Amino acid sequence: MSFTVAIDGPAAAGKGTISKAVAAHFGFHHLDTGLLYRAVGKKALNYSRTSYYPEIAEQLALELTAEDLQATDLRTAEVAQAASKIAVIPQVRTALVQFQKTFAKQEDGAVLDGRDIGTVICPDADVKLFVTASARVRADRRFKELSAKDPSVEFEQVYQDVMARDARDAERDVAPMVAADDAHLIDTSTLSIEEAIQAAIAVIDAKK
Ligand code: CDP
Repeated sequence: MSFTVAIDGPAAAGKGTISKAVAAHFGFHHLDTGLLYRAVGKKALNYSRTSYYPEIAEQLALELTAEDLQATDLRTAEVAQAASKIAVIPQVRTALVQFQKTFAKQEDGAVLDGRDIGTVICPDADVKLFVTASARVRADRRFKELSAKDPSVEFEQVYQDVMARDARDAERDVAPMVAADDAHLIDTSTLSIEEAIQAAIAVIDAKK
């Protein structure tokens, strides 16, 4: 029987870590939907570094392959910004909907993390979590991740990038980032990774 867990929230709130751990704990399949947008954003960067044409971006989304999601450079700051720019294009979102919905209905259960999972992709999800943390804490986490790969990264730039992306995600017309009315809020600002994971598992256990 399918069992769907929808996890949404702003950048670097801990969604990815929690989703992976929840999937491992319950034996669910996991889809990081941000990777879909990042992969389209990366392809769009090859066309233009300043503006993204809806028709081209839609075509790139329709042509997405499993291999595209394996690229090792999808987690860069540049690709993150491109992802959030193509993510405002309605045709791009529509092109990616069916794949996500089908993934969510798999036997054995599924956990999907993103921005619109509990509101648009899986409005009937069995469990919805909205994972958040203060802007400083999130920027600090992202800074540590990015500076481990590139020591020239500056905290202030990471902070500004995270803020710009959150604003774009929350203010767009189509599928904006917002907590579903029936989502459980988990604020990870002062939680350890283990505490955040246990908080999520407790909510799911209560529902199973
Ligand atoms: O890892 P992080 O939370 O920083 O970002 P991500 O989940 O990889 O998502 C990258 C970008 O893709 C977001 O800033 C959104 O603009 C977009 N996205 C979206 O619009 N809808 C989703 N379900 C997932 C990501």
